[in-house]
Amino acid sequence: MVVFENKAIPKLLLVCLFVQFSVSAANFFQPFNVTYDHRALIIDGKRRMLISGGIHYPRATPQMWPDLIAKSKEGGADVIESYTFWNGHEPVRGQYNFEGRFDLVKFVKLVGDNGLYFLLRIGPYVCAEWNFGGFPVWLRDIPGIEFRTDNEPFKREMQRFVTKIVDLMLEEKLFSWQGGPIILLQIENEYGNMEGSYGQKGKEYVRWAANMALGLGAGVPWVMCKQTDAPGDIIDTCNNYYCDGYKPNSPNKPTIWTENWDGWYTSWGGRLPHRPVEDLAFAVARFFQRGGSLMNYYMYFGGTNFGRTSGGPFYITSYDYDAPIDEYGLRSEPKWGHLKDLHAAIKLCERALVAADSPQYMKLGPRQEAHVYWENTQSAVLNTTLSESQSACSAFLANIDEHNTATVIFRGKSYSLPPWSVSILPDCSNVAFNTAKVGAQTSVKLVENALSPKISAPELVMTKNEVSSISESWMSVEEPIGIWSESNFTVQGLLEHLKVTKDESDYLWHMTRIYVSDDDVAFWEENKVSPTLVIDSMRDVLRIFINGELIGSVSGHWVKVLQPVQFQQGYSDLMLLSQTVGLQNYGAFLEKDGAGFRGQIKLTGFKNGDIDLSKASWIYQVGLKGEFQKIFTIEENEKAGWTNLKLDATPSTFTWYKAYFDSPDGSEPIAIDLGSMGKGQAWVNGHHIGRYWNLTAPKDGCPDSCDYRGAYGSNKCMTNCGKPTQTWYHVPRSWLQASNNLLVIFEEIGGNPFEISVKSRVPRILCAQMSESYYPPLREWLHLDLIDGKVSISDMKPQIHLQCEDGHIISSIEFASYGTPHGSCQNFSNGNCHSPNSLSVVSEACVGRNSCSVEVSNAGFGSDPCRGVLKTLAVEARCVSTSTIGVSQF
Ligand code: GAL
Repeated sequence: MVVFENKAIPKLLLVCLFVQFSVSAANFFQPFNVTYDHRALIIDGKRRMLISGGIHYPRATPQMWPDLIAKSKEGGADVIESYTFWNGHEPVRGQYNFEGRFDLVKFVKLVGDNGLYFLLRIGPYVCAEWNFGGFPVWLRDIPGIEFRTDNEPFKREMQRFVTKIVDLMLEEKLFSWQGGPIILLQIENEYGNMEGSYGQKGKEYVRWAANMALGLGAGVPWVMCKQTDAPGDIIDTCNNYYCDGYKPNSPNKPTIWTENWDGWYTSWGGRLPHRPVEDLAFAVARFFQRGGSLMNYYMYFGGTNFGRTSGGPFYITSYDYDAPIDEYGLRSEPKWGHLKDLHAAIKLCERALVAADSPQYMKLGPRQEAHVYWENTQSAVLNTTLSESQSACSAFLANIDEHNTATVIFRGKSYSLPPWSVSILPDCSNVAFNTAKVGAQTSVKLVENALSPKISAPELVMTKNEVSSISESWMSVEEPIGIWSESNFTVQGLLEHLKVTKDESDYLWHMTRIYVSDDDVAFWEENKVSPTLVIDSMRDVLRIFINGELIGSVSGHWVKVLQPVQFQQGYSDLMLLSQTVGLQNYGAFLEKDGAGFRGQIKLTGFKNGDIDLSKASWIYQVGLKGEFQKIFTIEENEKAGWTNLKLDATPSTFTWYKAYFDSPDGSEPIAIDLGSMGKGQAWVNGHHIGRYWNLTAPKDGCPDSCDYRGAYGSNKCMTNCGKPTQTWYHVPRSWLQASNNLLVIFEEIGGNPFEISVKSRVPRILCAQMSESYYPPLREWLHLDLIDGKVSISDMKPQIHLQCEDGHIISSIEFASYGTPHGSCQNFSNGNCHSPNSLSVVSEACVGRNSCSVEVSNAGFGSDPCRGVLKTLAVEARCVSTSTIGVSQF
């Protein structure tokens, strides 16, 4: 067992601290210590099995936080995890921001208020598909700095920020021993992947980072993820799609999974990743089966890369991640529901899991195995009150065969295990849960008939507001091409993009003047050639203008540019607009990566040879005029010379648009559909909702059906082929007022604002399907006396459970059949066997309610509609918002 030092508290302060401390302790927990042994974290003297949900606070609004935390708790999370975001918290060196979406203290307190623990991964390098991996861009300008290595300037800055965060948490009494929710901290992030690039200095940096962290007096354990050489007391943890079998580098450390990738991110023009929940549940169950103790979903809620926070290059604004809670804060089904049941099943085993120092292993077949956890000793750390005669037993039976169902014998009973699945037996006898049994949404038809009670919401409908377009009156103003202010400056030679922009804007104008002689023109005509602009390497987007006219665009990540150009005799202005689309967030030597151009820029094909532009005189201008005038804000937008846009106007490049719109009724999440636009950025009431880019995913590479079986990788089960990667952009409700919301768009390549529409995102249709042989509801287990076996779990009947989002109720049952129904959600039909009471029983139980349960049994439907046949209940229900009942469409 390891004990952690708390920061020494001066005696004089003790009295007043005690007063404040009692106040805060009342809000969260009684103060408790966190230590660990080889098996688990030890929380207040007890080993715990912990489920954690990743939520990055700035990827939602503070108004969304309470609901996200509540949904995580309801879904079975014990812990909420987040990184900290250095560039959000310290946008200018020494000027801190802990407000709004960056109000870390508020977020941690909300988690504590809900009785959940907190895992704070400070980093401060975080990767996370977040701009520059979380590093402030000003960090590059510190003389002599080299990131993430044994480099004094870097270590000084890193220590300053990490100390700032730890001190803030201490001040606010947010550590467990202060009565706060924080039980675990992380320093660095996956440095093990990079360490080799830094040689000996990398090794020294790891040791320094560990000692520095431990010296801050936080008083809770620290982890380093993907860091097999994590020193001393720092726990090395696993990040991956699967972490069963992971062994930390010391027999005294517990097995912790800091990132269970339950989906993945994507780029503009990319397909959408999807990780099937059967496989995800399998991975989690295998982890706990094989001795794991804390697992964190990366992400439980992914959210949105508002503003220019997206990493890159080219990561999209949505960070939905295919997480159990979707980008809009709605449950993503059946993922959320299936995992909720999984968590409940694991929790039923917790007593045995924490009691055993290690599981008993049993081979059940060539690719089948059991791990059994016995509570047969009274461990000192357990602090249990059980008598000797009471001993719990829990077991996990796994079939890791990717293709076939297996029938195994365990403790004299026979169990059928679907391929690539784990059955959880909280009492070592009855199955409470199987990871592969998820019902109608299951991507591979299982041999078994037992179907799960999961709600499936295959169609999260983006419903149109009354009017499809957001506004019929738009105004526009053109963005000047090239130099627009006196803040421009001239330099001989090429400057690195970020050195100039400091990332205050995506855009950097470069302008130079080219002289073309009569001889050049004659030479081109004679030889039927034209000159070419050659750039050795560039990222992310380049637009090339001659005398104000766009003649070409290139995008890519360090790609060569070969652009044919045409000049008239005389002087011409060559303008290069270089753009970033999210700064690099992964890789070694990030400080050297930069943006814009690398190598030489030249014009080839002139009569007297190439013109080397690398050494030419360039005028630089950072950003756009509209950006710097802040014409997207309510206060400043009138500064621009807006004119009315005609309906028949042709789409134009480099144009600002604005319109006003009313907020849709109700409380449902809102999205703006920018599918008619090209590329740019959008703001609502001055809030930057993000970059948009209408790029379409490749036509191929999405399977017709997704087979959950077998190891997952981010290319498996892709969706959205041939469709634009993102057209809906989340506008948080709290950014809207009832009417007159200002929408401002900056469009680079041309689009039609008249087709922009506002949509509310509503899960309207719920489906559930379950057979009478499914497992009894997990919550019933909790009431059982499992040890004495007084109540038989097998006497209990399965139930389907339907639940609309908060503020919604079930308005109607569109389909119900207890018997042998066919089809799947939105396509159900009656089979040969059908109870005539189906609709009335389900309607009676559900209509008018936010959630309902219906027993899947003959008794539940009055009688047996067909003897000797395994019956299934299939239901399709409709949800409506309580605030819209009685109006228009309902
Ligand atoms: C991990 C990294 C996370 C995130 C993830 C992919 O390697 O630690 O921050 O980038 O990959 O989503």
